[in-house]
Amino acid sequence: MTCLVTGGAGFIGSHTVDALLRRGDRVICLDNFTPYYDPERKRRNLAWAATQPGFVLVEADLRDAEALAGIFERYRPREVVHLAALPGPRPSIANPALYEQVNVGGTVHLLELARRYDVERFVLASTSSVYGRASKVPFEEGDPTDRPLSPYAATKKAAEVLGYTFHSLYGTPMSVVRFFTVYGPRGRPDMTPYVFVDRMVREQPIVLFERGVELYRDYTYIDDIVAGVLAALDRAQGYEIFNLGNSSPVELQRFVALLEQITGMRAVIEAQPLPPTEPLITYASTEKARRLLGFRAGTRVEDGLARFWEWYQLEVLPSVRRP
Ligand SMILES: NC(=O)c1ccc[n+]([C@@H]2O[C@H](COP(=O)([O-])OP(=O)(O)OC[C@H]3O[C@@H](n4cnc5c(N)ncnc54)[C@H](O)[C@@H]3O)[C@@H](O)[C@H]2O)c1
Repeated sequence: MTCLVTGGAGFIGSHTVDALLRRGDRVICLDNFTPYYDPERKRRNLAWAATQPGFVLVEADLRDAEALAGIFERYRPREVVHLAALPGPRPSIANPALYEQVNVGGTVHLLELARRYDVERFVLASTSSVYGRASKVPFEEGDPTDRPLSPYAATKKAAEVLGYTFHSLYGTPMSVVRFFTVYGPRGRPDMTPYVFVDRMVREQPIVLFERGVELYRDYTYIDDIVAGVLAALDRAQGYEIFNLGNSSPVELQRFVALLEQITGMRAVIEAQPLPPTEPLITYASTEKARRLLGFRAGTRVEDGLARFWEWYQLEVLPSVRRP
């Protein structure tokens, strides 16, 4: 099966590409290596994939409809996993129009080509951020998602809704997957735990909103996410939205204590108030994903963080210059 993975050089994308290749799929990886963070890191993410015969890398921008059409014409993908996006709620405040162009406009180009080339299954990446500051927990897929707290979250909600429209018009089977704070090897350098560990290593203070008290995130290990993405692809039917999360939120102050324990370093805390883009808690109900996809996030945060730390020491630590 030929699968087009957009954003395939990124954190979640590169792990998805590897998993598809391992099971024998042919993968067309589309990425423009956007400098949201170091593009060299993204190239390294593809080091193993690039040695595989079933792998094709196409450097192109999602906003370039003509280039996208060329990819569909040449490779005729049967499946699409759409992960490319500008991520990050806080950075999106400075650049809402750009986020709209990539995350909404780019998605429309892709949806349009998927229906023109009769794609059989489509997975669209969304986020727990669509739930905004919901107070009812755990978050269920049918809960209100019409109060996103950032331009980023609003663009992801818009993409979900457009996905529905295309499904309804043309019948493309579509799974929307809402990820909850994904972490692990190749993790994004703007997200915890990367940013916390990195600052601890450099002996710099870490910014902890509200000192991490009564602030919870549903940290989800990358391998669990990839298993969920593949199941959502294989079992895509109709239009369904799935939470993919650990369903076990961790209070941020405990998260930092765990990192201290695992790394053997001490964190210097700089307390800051919670920005308006941030919810107090994220907490996935994964009942639906369990029922329809057989999804189960089995990785305990202690184990996942230990694996992340192993990776960081191998891949990042050697290049860190301490002050
Ligand atoms: N990491 C998380 O915790 C998390 C949580 C919720 C949702 N998500 C969603 O998951 C997806 C993957 O996120 P990630 O954490 O792997 O981020 P990432 O930044 O590592 O990966 C995104 C990739 O998309 C590429 N890209 C960006 N703009 C592009 C464009 N115009 N054309 C082509 N490629 C482009 C980037 O170069 C990058 O490689 C995104 O859709 C994101 O919104 C991630």
